[in-house]
Amino acid sequence: MTDQFARKAEAWSARFSEPVSELVKRYTASVGFDRRLAMADIEGSLAHAAMLQSVGLLSAAELDAIRSGMQQIRGEIERGEFAWSIDLEDVHLNIEKRLTELVGDAGKRLHTARSRNDQVATDIRLWLRGTIDDIVAALGALQRALLDTAEGHAETILPGFTHLQVAQPVTFGHHLLAYVEMFARDAERMLDCRRRVNRLPLGAAALAGTSYPIDREQVARALGFDELCENSLDAVSDRDFAIEFCAAAALIMTHVSRLSEELVLWMSPRVGFIDLADRFCTGSSIMPQKKNPDVPELARGKSGRVNGHLVALLTLMKGQPLAYNKDNQEDKEPLFDTADTVLETLRIFADMTGGIAVRADRMRQAAAEGFSTATDLADYLVRKGLPFRDAHEAVARAVRTASDRGVDLAELSLDELRGFSPLIEADVAESLTLEGSVASRKHRGGTAPEQVRAQIARHRERLQDPGAA
Ligand code: ARG
Repeated sequence: MTDQFARKAEAWSARFSEPVSELVKRYTASVGFDRRLAMADIEGSLAHAAMLQSVGLLSAAELDAIRSGMQQIRGEIERGEFAWSIDLEDVHLNIEKRLTELVGDAGKRLHTARSRNDQVATDIRLWLRGTIDDIVAALGALQRALLDTAEGHAETILPGFTHLQVAQPVTFGHHLLAYVEMFARDAERMLDCRRRVNRLPLGAAALAGTSYPIDREQVARALGFDELCENSLDAVSDRDFAIEFCAAAALIMTHVSRLSEELVLWMSPRVGFIDLADRFCTGSSIMPQKKNPDVPELARGKSGRVNGHLVALLTLMKGQPLAYNKDNQEDKEPLFDTADTVLETLRIFADMTGGIAVRADRMRQAAAEGFSTATDLADYLVRKGLPFRDAHEAVARAVRTASDRGVDLAELSLDELRGFSPLIEADVAESLTLEGSVASRKHRGGTAPEQVRAQIARHRERLQDPGAA
């Protein structure tokens, strides 16, 4: 058996006098992971073939043969019957080889006016476009779940924190809506990234374009691309769209991680603000009393790997001269893992946050204990004519007294309060209650229950618009 014969499987083997070693074959092959692009690859090939036929580079019969061969291959892949071979390096060569087995010369003509360089760039963009749509939908479902829980707790009061110290009372609905804002921006970012993903590289061929009379607009229309990549060298080489996607994904996971941190904290028996359904928690093999919030903890951890993927892709790109380099094959695993991690996380979080059990009594108690209405008392004094700095000082003294006695401001008598400022009168009571405090923050963006309901209504309307994030 000659070397040439041994390597007949390889699309480029005629140039070489010895086969690649087994180790190198495994090292350079990507079919183990890029087979995930198979459906995009077939879709791209069919659009390319239809164009080749339109411009006279394929006959109608050849196009038909390619179509039926691809149909067959699609079925084989879906049924798990396709024989993937590492000898054929990647998803593109595996599918092309099988097509040729099935339809003969028409299969061999498919690669006219095309290179794997523009082919793979097209496949990734097609795949990523669909993935972005899935992520935007999952972000929508998560926002809806948070809105449902927020709606039930538009009036539930808990302490708002700064520096993890009780600051001012807020409503739990308002608190959850902060995350709805974050996830809404995440969806916006994804859709913005999608605009730059949705451009067609095909036609760039290896790097310089092709001498055949191709019709790139036709291919773009067939594949639903909004625009063409305008420079062939750029089209085959840059992966900035994937980096952008990973950056947007890292921000999603950052937001999920912040929410996770709060869920873990709120669920700690020391805090006891919420309970998560048992299906999101696990027990301990040694401590029978434990119910651990594993899902939020794991999500917080997984944000680390998504950040890692972003850095991996940035690093992958930064040293590459134009145009295509094999380095780019390394874009796929980080990209796939990013998509999988984000999608699974979002789906689980939609389920989990829709069913948070709230312990309103514990929240209220914590807000009542932390002098959370001190600012309200200062504002009260300002309304009575005291400059804010003087009011701040008077209230600080009141807090110190109450703190020394182990009571809250609302528990000090009117006479005691008047000792800190004679401007204090019987009407102060309303400013010291938690309800009065949150109700007074009734401007747009404030924590008052009426504003929480208004925010929820605006979000629901936005989420109904299919074009919106
Ligand atoms: N498997 C390759 C990748 O993922 C496809 C492109 C290969 N092109 C080449 N000239 N070797 O990037």
